[in-house]
Amino acid sequence: MSQYLSVQTVLRGSARRWLITGVAGFIGSNLLETLLKLDQEVVGLDNFATGHRKNLELVKALVTPEQWARFRFVEGDITNLDACREAVAGAEFVLHQAALGSVPRSLENPLRTNETNITGFLNMLVASRDAGVRRFVYAASSSTYGDHPGLPKIEDRIGKPLSPYAVTKYVNELYADVFGRCYGLETIGLRYFNVFGPRQDPDGAYAAVIPKWFSTLLRGDTLFINGDGSTSRDFCFVANTVQANILAATAERPDAANQVYNVALGDRTTLNELFEHIRSMVALARPDAANAQPVYRDFRAGDVRHSQADVSKARQLLGYEPTHRVLEGLRVASDWYVSLSQKAERGG
Ligand SMILES: NC(=O)c1ccc[n+]([C@@H]2O[C@H](COP(=O)([O-])OP(=O)(O)OC[C@H]3O[C@@H](n4cnc5c(N)ncnc54)[C@H](O)[C@@H]3O)[C@@H](O)[C@H]2O)c1
Repeated sequence: MSQYLSVQTVLRGSARRWLITGVAGFIGSNLLETLLKLDQEVVGLDNFATGHRKNLELVKALVTPEQWARFRFVEGDITNLDACREAVAGAEFVLHQAALGSVPRSLENPLRTNETNITGFLNMLVASRDAGVRRFVYAASSSTYGDHPGLPKIEDRIGKPLSPYAVTKYVNELYADVFGRCYGLETIGLRYFNVFGPRQDPDGAYAAVIPKWFSTLLRGDTLFINGDGSTSRDFCFVANTVQANILAATAERPDAANQVYNVALGDRTTLNELFEHIRSMVALARPDAANAQPVYRDFRAGDVRHSQADVSKARQLLGYEPTHRVLEGLRVASDWYVSLSQKAERGG
């Protein structure tokens, strides 16, 4: 039996208390769905900066009333220490997802990104330390590799950050490490690589590439590729990310804690390949999309050219085994965006 299956069996038999910050966001709401389906007690914290109440309603519809009754939502901002303390009280595990994502957003407003991603992060560490949290798992980022040219990316070989966002995510790792050394708080950082899947926001100036391209092609709008399309990423379906969080929180080997791990597949997909996959999936629902052609424009500032993870550390120390390759994940995401656009057309 895989480590993930055995952990799920153990959790089903005994409810633990979790705090998910950023619970109304994309990854946070997927964590919530999985934990409630495992009959866990969950507190969620969010200020709806980029997340949506709708995501919580959608999770409510996917679980039983008894499971939903095990969820308590705290509307609050992680830059407010009192809100962090209120949310974390009684939690055994913290899955800290709240942050302002997006490299371009951080280039436009570095102060705001810094306040949420560094001050907010530090508040959550202090609140978790004082509340006696057993383990603090947090969303780190592949952006920490910065300008290091090595491929695939190995956890201890990083370069210089290429954006304010990347600085904040690296500082998170430094603070988490120091809280382990100075206060004995157990932390695990998960360096996510381009996560995608249901409930990832397709709208807004800072939307990620996969949701943006699904919605662009479904609307029949012009699709832009930044650069020549050879830029590559290790796109990771959200179920794999959820698995990594649950394994990180519950890992029992002493050498697994106070570490950072890559969370991805170890695969590389270029933007041109991604475009072809998404176009062919959208064309099943909207046949005219089969003729769509991308418009190429300049590379985007702050973006690294290639990214691909070595996930052997997470495999060895956490028992991480990704369940969805890119195409499997894209099919699930496609169903989601197609049904979203059909609901929008019906005005629902
Ligand atoms: N999606 C990815 O590909 C990816 C890659 C690397 C790292 N990450 C990290 O994963 C985490 C989750 O990302 P996501 O893709 O789900 O983004 P998201 O924007 O959907 O979720 C972030 C959530 O945090 C909340 N939030 C923001 N500021 C807050 C504040 N001050 N107080 C309380 N809540 C606040 C937002 O309202 C939102 O619900 C983030 O830390 C992000 O940096 C994501």
